[in-house]
Amino acid sequence: MCGIIGYIGHDNATSILIAGLKRLEYRGYDSAGIAVIQNGQIEVRRSVGKLTNLEQALQQAPLYGNIGIGHTRWATHGKPSEQNAHPHRSNGVAIVHNGIIENYLTLKQRLQKEGFVFDSETDTEVIAHLLALHIRDGRSLHDAFLAATRELQGSYAIAGMYVGEPETLVATRSGCPLVIGRNEKAAFLASDVTPLLPHTHEVVFLEDGDIAVLTAQSTTITGAEGRVAERKSVRIDWDAEAAEKGGYPDFMLKEIHEQPQAILDTLRGRYSYETGEADLPDLGLTSQELLEAKRMWIVACGTSWHAGLVGKYLFEELIRKPVQVDIGSEFRYRQPMIQAGDLFIAISQSGETADTLAAVREARLRGARILSIVNVVGSTLARESDGVLYTRCGPEISVASTKAFTGQVVALYLLALHLGRIRQVLSLEDGRWWLDQFMALPSKVEHVLKREAEILSMAKRFYTMRNFLYLGRGINYPIALEGALKLKEISYIHAEGYAAGEMKHGPIALIDEDMPVVVLAPRDQLYEKTVNNLMEVKARKAPVIAFVSEGERELGALADFVFTIPSSHPLLSPIPFTVALQLFAYHVAILRQVDVDRPRNLAKSVTVE
Ligand code: F6R
Repeated sequence: MCGIIGYIGHDNATSILIAGLKRLEYRGYDSAGIAVIQNGQIEVRRSVGKLTNLEQALQQAPLYGNIGIGHTRWATHGKPSEQNAHPHRSNGVAIVHNGIIENYLTLKQRLQKEGFVFDSETDTEVIAHLLALHIRDGRSLHDAFLAATRELQGSYAIAGMYVGEPETLVATRSGCPLVIGRNEKAAFLASDVTPLLPHTHEVVFLEDGDIAVLTAQSTTITGAEGRVAERKSVRIDWDAEAAEKGGYPDFMLKEIHEQPQAILDTLRGRYSYETGEADLPDLGLTSQELLEAKRMWIVACGTSWHAGLVGKYLFEELIRKPVQVDIGSEFRYRQPMIQAGDLFIAISQSGETADTLAAVREARLRGARILSIVNVVGSTLARESDGVLYTRCGPEISVASTKAFTGQVVALYLLALHLGRIRQVLSLEDGRWWLDQFMALPSKVEHVLKREAEILSMAKRFYTMRNFLYLGRGINYPIALEGALKLKEISYIHAEGYAAGEMKHGPIALIDEDMPVVVLAPRDQLYEKTVNNLMEVKARKAPVIAFVSEGERELGALADFVFTIPSSHPLLSPIPFTVALQLFAYHVAILRQVDVDRPRNLAKSVTVE
């Protein structure tokens, strides 16, 4: 989730771009840069790290010009470095990009044959060269954008300028947000409205395929087919803080709602219907190395550990290979029987969790191959791994993990498919079938999100309770743990997650009318058993909140509240079920007036033991 800014007018672009980038910093950054047309040349300044580094670079070598673009980067392709930072240039063209170009390797090979030389490891650089190629063929910047977007596959928002047309700024989008605005003297563009608000409150959200041509005096938008398109402007009355949160009251709710996109981004460009395979070039481990692994281990902490537990059920059922799942802090202090050549998967949103890192170092000492599933590119964990499968969730700001968890589970699905295909336990047809199921996940999550009001009414009924029990079976047992963790960490209500079958071995003693029981009961082979567990709960007068698959009637009679989840293969049910539980925890916490983004005693990244 990078941030883009663009300006064209009569003032010095540099200070406007830097002020805009500051307002985009919340989107996450590992490097930043700006480009300005100064005396007929593209001039670029880029730095790694905080924006103050870029400001220092500009103090040493200032830039002046009336047109410019800027970018805060959250790395996806290529580590955070000055060379990989945007803007990228080619023959008088400069561009900034947010998103992922799926076919960049094919385009890169073609452009190299055309004589273009690549300076970075990014997918973005192909866009700069592609535009330069089309300009070389005689096209205007607008027409070069039109031609290039017909070749680009993936998601993107792009803004660019060209020395041959120093009075036009051009931008387009497909799958990534881009908004434009103007006042009497100037035009602006950005990834979201936040940097535009000091200049204007009337903005236009571009639609997929739109190309906007901005000059100091005018704005023209053409649609995907190249004809002029009318787009209505929208008045935004948010202040800067509300704008950062995209109009949501806090980051947690924003991040919960970002999950359909995060799932799609994590899948994007990583599969092939032709081969029924997950296409994971960044894995860093060959198929041979993966096949040689005698045992598989997954180690993580907290919510990421719950994702790891989902991975165990998934791998064991889908690819028939045993998996040992450990908590980071436990693994490091026991004598794990890990051997040379074992596959060790570490899962972490931040990539900086001390216990997970210590476990990785222990596993490496013993000769294991390390594969990490990480959200933060270039984090310590990513650097210390043989291979990395990045979740592409963008920065997670709220302390409680939401979209990073679903991203981790999606990464595990991709890995399971890859392992299943190379171990030949999944056929080509199986592979294609699973890909279809993965691609359907975002709309299932959307469906849950649309019914937030139902979850709010459940929360209203229960938010004063002091204890909760969460029950799940099979692959949804870790989701019961995750639901309980979410509730306790943001609402400060005591909550326990249990395997439903374990209830009779102890926790049943706690059950009475003051202990609401949240039960996860998708339609799977364990459904009837879960219904029986609920009978025992009801007999003890506990209120029951049931999350069930669409079309289920049986539990309706037993439960006080029923929330239906779109049906899916049981192995895929954890994602929509988790989203419903996140919303429940969120609304309970809000009703209890907790600052959900900063719950007490918790830190976003636990870098100490
Ligand atoms: C819970 C939560 C924590 C983290 C845990 C590991 O909402 O956020 O339990 O999951 O501290 O952090 P990462 O994933 O950064 O290693």
